Amino acid sequence: MTRYDDLLKSIKKKEADVSIIGIGYIGLPTALFYAMRGMKVRGIDTNQSLIDGLKKGVIPIHEEGLSDIAKEHLSKIQLANSYDNVGETDVFVLCLPSPIDESGKPVIRYLEHAIRDIAKVSKKGCLILVESTVPVGTTELLAQLFAKESGFKPDTDFWFAHCPERVLPGKVVEEMDTNHRLAGGTSEASTELAVVFLSQIFKTNLVHPTTASVSEAAKLAENAFRDTNIAYANELAKLCTTLAIDVSEVIKLANLHPRVDILSPGLGVGGYCFPKDGWILVESARKKGGSAELIPAARHVNDSMPWHVAKRIREIVLDCTAKATVGLLGLAYKENVSDTRNSPTVELLQALTSTDVDVIVYDPLVDEGFGAKQADSMDELLKISDIVVLCVGHNQIIKDLETSDLAEKVFVDPRNLLPKMRSKVKKYVGLSI
Ligand SMILES: NC(=O)c1ccc[n+]([C@@H]2O[C@H](COP(=O)([O-])OP(=O)(O)OC[C@H]3O[C@@H](n4cnc5c(N)ncnc54)[C@H](O)[C@@H]3O)[C@@H](O)[C@H]2O)c1
Repeated sequence: MTRYDDLLKSIKKKEADVSIIGIGYIGLPTALFYAMRGMKVRGIDTNQSLIDGLKKGVIPIHEEGLSDIAKEHLSKIQLANSYDNVGETDVFVLCLPSPIDESGKPVIRYLEHAIRDIAKVSKKGCLILVESTVPVGTTELLAQLFAKESGFKPDTDFWFAHCPERVLPGKVVEEMDTNHRLAGGTSEASTELAVVFLSQIFKTNLVHPTTASVSEAAKLAENAFRDTNIAYANELAKLCTTLAIDVSEVIKLANLHPRVDILSPGLGVGGYCFPKDGWILVESARKKGGSAELIPAARHVNDSMPWHVAKRIREIVLDCTAKATVGLLGLAYKENVSDTRNSPTVELLQALTSTDVDVIVYDPLVDEGFGAKQADSMDELLKISDIVVLCVGHNQIIKDLETSDLAEKVFVDPRNLLPKMRSKVKKYVGLSI
């Protein structure tokens, strides 16, 4: 039997030894899912305190349903902060950071470091899957790096594929099971192995074979598409501000057209992925002489939104006779998650404090205050604030607001989440008017 046959057999029999590298927002649910589906799973993360916490059962992410899976399956995962014991791994799954630097250039050194570390210890006959979102061509480069560092021959001693993660934060547990998956190998044999492996865990009809480059580009394209669509809604909101008309009314009526579906504008676009993935796509093509206008423009529009809202809040503050305090509700980058990476609220907070506005913040899912005064409860924030800004619609915040007395407050609702508050507050302020 060849190494390929051996690996295929152990994957098909669900006997493959799997190492998930990077146990963060994506790696942790992935490891838990694999463990739940009966795979032997190891979880490697260089963050010692994360591993220590997980070993004590501390789940650092707030995701609907994740704690329940963790209660049953976390103990099955062998957790470590080094690569010492990954030598027998059959399948490596890389869920590592792939950020951009300050000039917007993709950073792939986290993946390169991991590949070097894996190459030092791995056996012949392994499959390496990259789940991270990467510039087009990266998986091929990483496969070449692995061949160089290990001395192994591609398609004889190892196989390599890009299998991007596409879950929506807040719905990770649900979407892990229901989303379509891409298996983009650096060779036909790699694609085949990746398809067979993913089909052991997820529904076979949801696994789509392709090439590594197409898989990389498809993942970037879907995020850039959504970012661009949101930017259209946000630009419309800014135009409606100038025109002094209600953007939500404009969108509601425009969407009555059978072929129009404008998204909801808001405070901006945050999170780990959208603010970087459009740039990564553009940069992939730019390196080969290409250029783009729409995707960068969309990025700039979305980045400008916290400043647009800050300007509107500042105008309200200046209109107040006494010194007003602004209460920001929700610091996470979106509803019902604790992730604050690139959060538009944090950007709004910085924009307001840089102009000397008094700000207090509250988020039931976030411990950090980002330098602002933190309220211990929503009641405390409402008591202190003259102007209440509904930044993030966590279910708990919406529920509590609906029963709160805001009759004396100016209520700012950039995402148009509670238009019914209009009749219950001193003044209701939307994104455009
Ligand atoms: N978060 C999302 O919503 C999401 C969704 C789809 C895809 N992605 C993509 O998935 C990838 C991972 O994103 P994430 O949000 O899980 O990132 P994350 O920062 O939450 O997790 C990455 C983990 O990797 C660890 N790490 C860094 N270098 C390491 C190394 N050399 N060896 C072992 N561990 C190492 C870090 O300590 C961290 O815990 C990114 O490419 C991202 O674009 C993220």
